[in-house]
Amino acid sequence: MNQERSDTLVLFGATGDLAHKKIFPALYAMVAKGTLTEPVIGVAFDAWDLKQLQARARDGIVKAIGKVDEKIFAKLASLLRYVSGDYRSAATFEKLKSALGTAQHPLHYLAVPPTMFETVIQGLEQSGAAQGARLMVEKPFGHDLQSARWLNRVLHLVFDEQSIFRIDHYLGKEAIQNLLYFRFANSFLEPIWNRNFVESVQVTMAEDFGVEGRGRFYDEVGCIRDVIENHLLNILLLLAMEPPVGRSADDLIDEKVQVLRAIRTLTRDDVVRGQFKGYLSEPGVAPNSPVETFAAVRFFVDTWRWRDVPFFIRAGKCMPVHATEVIVRLKRPPLDVFDPIKPGDANHVRFRIDPQVAISIGAQRKAAGDDMIGEQVELTALDDSKGDMPPYERLIGDAMNGNGQLFTRQDASELAWRIVGPVLGDTTPPHLYEPGTWGPGDAMAGFGPPNGWINPAK
Ligand code: BG6
Repeated sequence: MNQERSDTLVLFGATGDLAHKKIFPALYAMVAKGTLTEPVIGVAFDAWDLKQLQARARDGIVKAIGKVDEKIFAKLASLLRYVSGDYRSAATFEKLKSALGTAQHPLHYLAVPPTMFETVIQGLEQSGAAQGARLMVEKPFGHDLQSARWLNRVLHLVFDEQSIFRIDHYLGKEAIQNLLYFRFANSFLEPIWNRNFVESVQVTMAEDFGVEGRGRFYDEVGCIRDVIENHLLNILLLLAMEPPVGRSADDLIDEKVQVLRAIRTLTRDDVVRGQFKGYLSEPGVAPNSPVETFAAVRFFVDTWRWRDVPFFIRAGKCMPVHATEVIVRLKRPPLDVFDPIKPGDANHVRFRIDPQVAISIGAQRKAAGDDMIGEQVELTALDDSKGDMPPYERLIGDAMNGNGQLFTRQDASELAWRIVGPVLGDTTPPHLYEPGTWGPGDAMAGFGPPNGWINPAK
C-alpha cells in the first residue's frame, strides 16, 4: 500500500457537470489555502484545448462562490493540463501517461458514469498509469447488489482496497462530522442513546427543487438509489453505531459495517413511494415512468441497543423547503406530574444538517403565568458556517493523502445494496403529490414514526 501523498490529480470527466459545479470550486479553495500545489490533469472526450478547460473551471468557480480572485485562479490555471480523447482508445492513455511525466503516485478521480469505470480502469492499467496510483470513484456505485459486486471486482483487478476511495459527499459535510463528534465526545448522551429511552429516529432530506435538467440520470436512478441508499443510510449508521475502538479509518468503518449487518432487509411494506406531478414532462424522463421522486422508508436495526426502535428516512424533490434534519425523539416521562405533555412534545435531539448546521435539544419548561402549564423549547448550538470546509474540498484532500476514513469500503457498499435490494425497481406507479407539499398525503397517512413526522422549518 502506498503511504505517499498523491503527486498529481487526474480528473476523468473534467468537462462534465460535477467538475463544473463542485470539483473546480473545491480545487480553487484548496489552492487558496495552499493545500493543493500538485498538477491537475483533466481528461475528457471533448476536443477542447487547455484554455477552454480553464474558462470552464473559472465559470464553475464564479457560479459557486460569486467571484474569482485573479491571483488564486492564476495559480490553479497554472496547475491545469488537459488530455482529450476517447476512453476506449489506447492513444488517450498514452497521452495521459506522457502528461503524468515523472509523477509516481497519481490520484485518478473517475467523475464519469459507472458504465465507463471498466474501460477507464483497463486503459489505466494497460498504459502503466495505474502503477503506484490511487483511485477515487463517484456515486452511484452500482445499481444494485449484483452490479456493485461486479464493479468491485473490476476495481480490484487493478487497485487494492486501500487505494480505492468510493466517494459519498455527504460524509464530507461539516454537520455529518459533527454528528459523530457530538455523539462520542459527550458523556451525557450515552445513557439515553438506546431502545430504553429513544422512541424513534427520523431523518428528512427535503429539496424544494425538481430534477433540474438531470431527468435522464434521475429517471434511471430514483430517490432511493440517489440519496437514501448512500447519503441518508450513512447518517443512520452514524446515529446507530457503537463507539469506534480507535481512530483509524478501519476502526470507524468496522463499526458502521456492524450496523449495516444488523439492519433488516427492506420489504415493500417498509416503503411509500411518491412522484411529483409534472415529473413526467421533465426532459429525459420516460413517458409513464414509475420512478419515485419521493420515498419514505422504515428501517430496523436488530442490535441489543436498537431492537424495535423504528428509524424512518424520507427524502423528496419539490418539497416545501430545502433542509436536511435528523430528530431523535425520546420516550415521554412515565407520568404527567403537571399538565399532560402533548404526545409529539417529548424530548428530542435535533441535528440540522443543511442548509445551516445546528444541534438542538428539545425540552419542556413552564410557560410564564399562574398555572403549571408547559411549553416546548429548544436549546440550540448554531454554527455560523464560517470556516466550514465544503465536502469536495475535504474529500479530495483526504483521498490525495490516502486517508480513507470518510469513504465507503467494499463490504459497506455491498451491504447497503443488500438492505434496499427488494424495494428497488418497483414498477407499480408511485403515488402522485403536488409540488411544494410533503409528499403523497393519503399514502403517507399512518406511515411514519409514532407521534408523527416533524417537518423541518425553512
Ligand atoms: C446528490 C444527488 O448526490 O446529492 C442529488 O444526486 C441531490 O439529487 C444532492 O440533490 C444533494 O446534495 P447536497 O449536498 O447538494 O445537498
